[in-house]
Amino acid sequence: MNISVPRGTEDLLPENTKQWQVVEDALKGLAHTYHYDEIRTPMFERTELFQRGVGDTTDIVQKEMYTFEDRGGRSLTLRPEGTASVARSYVQHKMHGNADQPTKLYYLGPMFRYERPQQGRTRQFTQFGIEAIGSADAAIDAEVIAFAMDCYQVLGLKSLKLVLNSLGDKESREAHRQALVEHFKPYQEELCSDCQMRLEQNPLRLLDCKVDRDHPTMSTAPSILEYLNDYSSQYFEEVKKHLDAMGISYVVDETLVRGLDYYTHTAFEIMSEAEGFGSITTLSGGGRYNGLIQDLGGPENSGIGFALSIERLLMALEAEGITVETGHALDCFVITMGDEAKYTASSLVYKLRKAGFRTDQDFLDKKMKAQFKAADRYKAKYAIIIGEDEVNNGVANVKNLVEGEQKTIEFDKIIEQLETTV
Ligand code: HAM
Repeated sequence: MNISVPRGTEDLLPENTKQWQVVEDALKGLAHTYHYDEIRTPMFERTELFQRGVGDTTDIVQKEMYTFEDRGGRSLTLRPEGTASVARSYVQHKMHGNADQPTKLYYLGPMFRYERPQQGRTRQFTQFGIEAIGSADAAIDAEVIAFAMDCYQVLGLKSLKLVLNSLGDKESREAHRQALVEHFKPYQEELCSDCQMRLEQNPLRLLDCKVDRDHPTMSTAPSILEYLNDYSSQYFEEVKKHLDAMGISYVVDETLVRGLDYYTHTAFEIMSEAEGFGSITTLSGGGRYNGLIQDLGGPENSGIGFALSIERLLMALEAEGITVETGHALDCFVITMGDEAKYTASSLVYKLRKAGFRTDQDFLDKKMKAQFKAADRYKAKYAIIIGEDEVNNGVANVKNLVEGEQKTIEFDKIIEQLETTV
């Protein structure tokens, strides 16, 4: 029986990983430009972290978590997202006490959700995200949003749409919640069983129900923006003013509620508007979470962040016809003829690598023509050819495969000569 990858997962083969590395390096570079440092948290956490952090009534916690009991009887869950883990780590390591504030962190790694796989939606996917914790200044909301947009722009993407909303503070949300209950209560029986429960437990979740999306009550549901108190609406205005100052355009969408419970105030998503992108157009999402750190046992510090999936970013690149330049694979490919040449090649390849040249050689006793073909396929800049004559004379023929010229160089001068040209 052949065993293949589990449903909703995929192997990344070398032809893909090269592209991934370029994209990952660009994102990490951007994080450093914006002054964010990397954090790595475990791939599994205690289940209660997500129940408390992401929220008991969310689809993620109710339907999508990979939860298992370990041999010690503890309930553990493969992380479905990064924010709860970063918040836990912030509290556990008392990062609020560090000299540098706000704490600005980025992460990159696999996340796991038991969702119905389709294009752009997998059960293991790779998130790149940032979290800025310890400031309630609207300027940092704008920084995070600008960063999110830059992640795409730095790779050349253009067909992007930034959608913005405010979910308000606790007081505003409570007022909105009451209004939602009053709005939906008369139609409770017509809603799906999940929504009937949501109406009791967390009516905001009704607004991102995939089943009742087209129910007539959805389009007339009360907008959060009408229930923002003064502080919340002023905060939202300030975020927009910062974005305006930066020249970042956005669309306000009062129906944007996000699928996780920790959000307060700013919520945003970035969509691809490229033709042929597919039906799931959300590239990334994020927002502010002012109660999360406290809910996890930390101080009252607030945070904001966002996450994107590399898979959807690559889909957007493809939809916009952008190829990621992966560069020369090899500096040198050493071509040999005859047994003696192979010993010389072993020594030369070893020395070239020690000197930092990306180098490889033939291991299959191929004919010379086939070895040249291999050098071409590996996009080597130089072919270094060693035959019996060359061994006897202590030289090699070094061919520049880009420009076509060839020189005979003494063995112990090769590295020196290449260093001036490569
Ligand atoms: P999220 O909206 O659940 O937010 O996920 C963020 C991004 O992860 C999505 O926009 C999408 O690109 C990607 N994503 C989610 N599920 C899948 C999937 N099944 N397959 C492929 N890609 C997927 C969060 O996770 C929040 N932690 C973001 C955040 C950070 N908020 C504040 N800080």
